[in-house]
Amino acid sequence: MGEIRAEVVIIGGGVIGLTIARSLAKRGVRDVCLLERGGLGCEASSAAGGMLLPQVEADAHDDFFALACRSRDLYPSLAVELREETGIDIELDTTGTLYLALSEHDYEEIEQRYHWQTRAGLAVELLTSAAARQLEPCISESTFGVLLFPNDIQVENRRLIAALANSVNVLGVKTVTETTVAGLVIEGRRITGVKTSRGDISCQTVVIAAGTWSSFLLQSAPNITPVRGQMVCLESKPQLTRHVIFSPRGYLVPRQDGRLLAGSTSENAGFAKRVTAGGIASILRQALEISPAVANLPIADTWAGLRPRAVDGLPVLGPCGEIDGLFYATGHYRNGILLAPLTAELISEAIVTGKTSQLLAPFSPDRFSSQPVVSV
Ligand code: FAD
Ligand code: GLY
Repeated sequence: MGEIRAEVVIIGGGVIGLTIARSLAKRGVRDVCLLERGGLGCEASSAAGGMLLPQVEADAHDDFFALACRSRDLYPSLAVELREETGIDIELDTTGTLYLALSEHDYEEIEQRYHWQTRAGLAVELLTSAAARQLEPCISESTFGVLLFPNDIQVENRRLIAALANSVNVLGVKTVTETTVAGLVIEGRRITGVKTSRGDISCQTVVIAAGTWSSFLLQSAPNITPVRGQMVCLESKPQLTRHVIFSPRGYLVPRQDGRLLAGSTSENAGFAKRVTAGGIASILRQALEISPAVANLPIADTWAGLRPRAVDGLPVLGPCGEIDGLFYATGHYRNGILLAPLTAELISEAIVTGKTSQLLAPFSPDRFSSQPVVSV
């Protein structure tokens, strides 16, 4: 690659890096260079279920909830724009999500969620088991009650990656795959470039969007650790359910082409991105609890991915106070697909205008105790 220059370098070609690259290019930033160690979207972003569910698991109207709802609500326009830019349909499915209570304890949980969200004026309905089974006959007869979230929807995340890759290409972003960033170049307290496996790149701005590997780029980076999630892909023709179906222990996500995703596990297994017999067994147990009809479906595929989690479980977003020109967009944990559109808007706005939105304040990388800056 030799010595090259860029205005902004983005490290990581997952959903977060790609949406930020697109947003910067749309704001008129030229010379955006996105560096990816493998292929675009090859890690968590392709392993995900594509669910856009801020309400389903929320117990309070906090900063994270506000961020997640805003990001979900950007998806309809993003889907239209990506279709126009690339011809790719990201299969945004607005049928909605059902959340099942499969025990008395689950029912207490969903009642509380129903009450606070109703009081907050959010769209949610409490259905009897019979009413829910009229909507989706595959639901277990042992269901105690069901919440219907009409605004919690889903997207086909692999098509989303394909559309974003195509879009950034059209917009003139330089994407360099099969290239690892080995470290940052910092002079004084300012970023001046990155070191890669194919040579150095000089730049004034760097965005770390390297998912669960984000901590390796700088010793003082916030600690991001991998939480493994395994997935089973079933074949369901005709499709078992039109809604996404969620329970406190698992979920089913129907795709338009007849795949039915069953997820997932949450494991601290380091960086071992493996599918295990125990993982698959627990996913199938959870799926059968939601719908006994799953027993008849062939297994088409299995995979695992690593969710990037910060110590407090919240995303890490915004400028690094200690190093001028360095931004973080990582730690999206279970919700990176959901949070991508708003993450991209807010990070690109901060880079272009130099002003950081108040929406990002609770997620600042500076919330973690600061250590001396040492580049690696
Ligand atoms: P990644 O997609 O992991 O991308 C980071 C990229 O950086 C990788 O491609 C990696 O190769 C690259 N990289 C790392 N280090 C370097 C380096 N040094 N140099 C160059 N490149 C580097 N979220 C939802 O919103 N909805 C869901 O339904 C959902 N379901 C999920 C189900 C499972 C089983 C899993 C595992 C995750 C799920 N998630 C879901 C979470 C979501 O997948 C992640 O939060 C999101 O993909 C994170 O995106 P990212 O771009 O930060 O990370
Ligand atoms: N958001 C679903 C998962 O992370 O498994």
